[in-house]
Amino acid sequence: MTSRRPSPAAPETSGPLDPRAIISFHHVDLQYDDQKALSNVTFTVANGEFVCLTGPSGAGKSSILRLIAMDAFPTKGQVIVRGMPATRMNRGRVPQLRREIGYVFQDFRLLEDRSVEDNVAFAQLVVGQPHKLIVKNVMRVLTQVGLYDKRHRLPRQLSGGEQQRVAIARAMVNSPKILLADEPTGNLDPVTAQEIIDLLFRVNDAGTCVMFSTHDHEIVKTFGQRVLVVDGGTLISDERRRVPVDRSASLVDNMYRAPEGARSPGARTVRKEPVHA
Ligand SMILES: Nc1ncnc2c1ncn2[C@@H]1O[C@H](COP(=O)(O)OP(=O)(O)OP(=O)(O)O)[C@@H](O)[C@H]1O
Ligand SMILES: [Mg+2]
Repeated sequence: MTSRRPSPAAPETSGPLDPRAIISFHHVDLQYDDQKALSNVTFTVANGEFVCLTGPSGAGKSSILRLIAMDAFPTKGQVIVRGMPATRMNRGRVPQLRREIGYVFQDFRLLEDRSVEDNVAFAQLVVGQPHKLIVKNVMRVLTQVGLYDKRHRLPRQLSGGEQQRVAIARAMVNSPKILLADEPTGNLDPVTAQEIIDLLFRVNDAGTCVMFSTHDHEIVKTFGQRVLVVDGGTLISDERRRVPVDRSASLVDNMYRAPEGARSPGARTVRKEPVHA
C-alpha cells in the first residue's frame, strides 16, 4: 500500500491574504470558558500541503483542528478557511464549509450499530448525494482503503486499524478539499500506523490538503514534510524539509530495534535523514 512517489512540492504562501492559502491563522487566541487554549497563533497552509501538527498533551493541537473545522471560533485574531472567515456571524455557512472538510477523530466515532458501508454512506446522505452516486462512491472509497470485503461488518467486528480506515473512508467520501486527522495513529501499532499514514499520503496525492496531529516522534521524523510544533497554546516552530520526504520510508524499521550494545555483528543499522534537512 506504500506510495513510492516523493511528496509533491506544495507552494509556500506569503500571508493570510495570499489567495493560495487554503487555511490561514492570523494572531489567533482561543479561550475556552475557564482555559486559554491558544495564544497568538499565526500560520498559513497552501492548497495541497501535507502538514504535521505536533506537541505535548494539552498543547492545543485539537484546538487548532477544531478552529479549522469551525467547531470553535477564535476569541481574538482571524481564522480563514477556503476564503471564509471564522466568525460567529458566518455560522450559517459552516455546514457548507464542512462539506469540503473531512475530519478523522482519534477515537474513530463510528456508528456502532451500522455496517461499515452504512457508516461511510451516512456522510454522503447528510450532504444530499443521490442514492445511485452514494453506492458508487462508497464502494470506491472502501476499495481504496482495502475494506470492500468487510463492508457488511459492524465496527466492533473490525480491528482498531480497520476502524480507523473506515473513519478515513468516511472522511474521504465527499472528496474534501481539506482532510483533518486528529491523532489518527494514536492507538495503533507501527505497522498499522504506517498503513494509515500511507492512506493519508494517497489522499494528499489526489490533491487534498492534509493536516494531522500526532504525538509520535517517529512519524514526525520520518514523514514530517512540514511540521508545526505547538506548546502551551503557542506555535513554537513551523519548519519545512527542503528535500521531499521519502514516502516509501518505513516506520516499522524502528519497531524492535535492539540497543546498540546488543546488536549482533553485521546487523543492519537503519539510518534516517535528519528531520529538517
Ligand atoms: N472544551 C474545552 N473546555 C475547556 N478547556 C478545554 C476544552 N478543550 C480543550 N481544553 C483545554 O485547552 C487546552 C488545549 O487542549 P487541546 O485539546 O487543544 O490539546 P491537545 O494538544 O490536542 O492535547 P492532546 O494531545 O492531549 O489531545 C488544554 O489545556 C485543554 O485542557
Ligand atoms: Mg488533542
